[in-house]
Amino acid sequence: MTSGRRLFEREVEVRLLHGLVDRAAAGTGGIVLIEAAPGLGKSSLLADVVEYATEAGLGVLRAAGHELEGDYGWGVVRALFDPTLRRMPAEARSEVLDGPARAAATALSVGPEDPRAAQDPSAIVPALYWLTVNLTESRGHLMVVDDAHWADEPSLRLLVYLAARVESLPLAMVVATRPGEGPALLLDHLARRVPEVVTLAPLSAAASVRLVEDELANLQPALRDRCVELGAGVPLYLVEIVRALADGTEWTEGTIGRGLAAARRSLSHLLRPRLAALSPSGRAVADAIAVLESEVTVPVVAGVAGVDVATVLDALDELDRAELVSSASLTFKHPLLRDVVYGLFGTQRRADAHRRCAQLLAAGRAPVERVCGHLLLVVPGTDAEVRRLLTSGAESAMSKGAPRSAIS
Ligand SMILES: Nc1ncnc2c1ncn2[C@@H]1O[C@H](COP(=O)(O)OP(=O)(O)OP(=O)(O)O)[C@@H](O)[C@H]1O
Ligand SMILES: [Mg+2]
Repeated sequence: MTSGRRLFEREVEVRLLHGLVDRAAAGTGGIVLIEAAPGLGKSSLLADVVEYATEAGLGVLRAAGHELEGDYGWGVVRALFDPTLRRMPAEARSEVLDGPARAAATALSVGPEDPRAAQDPSAIVPALYWLTVNLTESRGHLMVVDDAHWADEPSLRLLVYLAARVESLPLAMVVATRPGEGPALLLDHLARRVPEVVTLAPLSAAASVRLVEDELANLQPALRDRCVELGAGVPLYLVEIVRALADGTEWTEGTIGRGLAAARRSLSHLLRPRLAALSPSGRAVADAIAVLESEVTVPVVAGVAGVDVATVLDALDELDRAELVSSASLTFKHPLLRDVVYGLFGTQRRADAHRRCAQLLAAGRAPVERVCGHLLLVVPGTDAEVRRLLTSGAESAMSKGAPRSAIS
């Protein structure tokens, strides 16, 4: 495992991946796709299967897509094959790159370029397949591709091609990807060719408690439970929260808040590409739900987002697939996700959005305190209507015997 951390509640997935490696070692290949949102443990599972395959004596070809390198042709293919080819004696290298594999060198940094392949790029993927055949002839291999959503498209084409032919090779392929990111068409093609798509569930509360206790043995139970609640079963959040607490001598609600802020920062970084990949209406609907926060309804979301109801419904499907929003409950799948989306608003946009919420909620006769809740987040003193609504809200709160909300 990358971090040496115990893997909780992944016994079924680990058994499946070890079985895939065992079968490849015995001559029958296969492919497993792991599809899960950030931080649920894809890379950790890949690290485990690499360790298992290495101990079993298989060769390992491994690569990962990188956020800024998706446009860089053949980056993943190079990372997969170059190190193994470089380690080979020159003569053996020429042999595996010979015959039908010759055009493969065009995509790699080793071996001579084949001038014919430059004229016919479609020859490269089949040639890379033949290179894989040649490499796996003498011993079984594990091929691991992490973060396939960031992989360059030519390399993804090879994965699709291999997936359709892997059974006849002593090759175990494991590909990890986040849902809703990356070139949808190619990743869909890949998923269709894969009999086994593994999704990862959040950890149970019991496993979350054990993860927290593994890291911070002396945490008071009440604070430990607060970490577990905030982590919502996502190992990454739990680890980030606990990590931020690990250097504090005293653990209080305040230091937990620090942990949460650190988790939010790392999540914000993870989330940006997922938000950038959304359609404009998907992003507008996510923003509207972040601003509305609670008791959200489709018509109000439509009003705040400035789109019609049918568009909201399509956008909700998109946001559900991207693991951001539950389309059934119209809430973010994790409170930290909402915080991050909301945190990306500038001051003026945030004020405008809250003003629109207040107007729509008022028009729909929502409780006036709720309307006021939004109005208080609009820059005060700029808008006569804001003041008028605030005053009537305060009057209503007073008349209902809630003076604290009337003056705060
Ligand atoms: N089942 C688990 N039990 C305990 N810790 C875990 C588990 N899964 C993951 N972790 C820890 O959670 C953190 C995030 O895991 P990992 O990096 O594997 O997630 P990921 O799905 O690859 O995320 P990303 O989409 O960002 O690449 C790591 O520190 C890892 O050690
Ligand atoms: Mg990862």
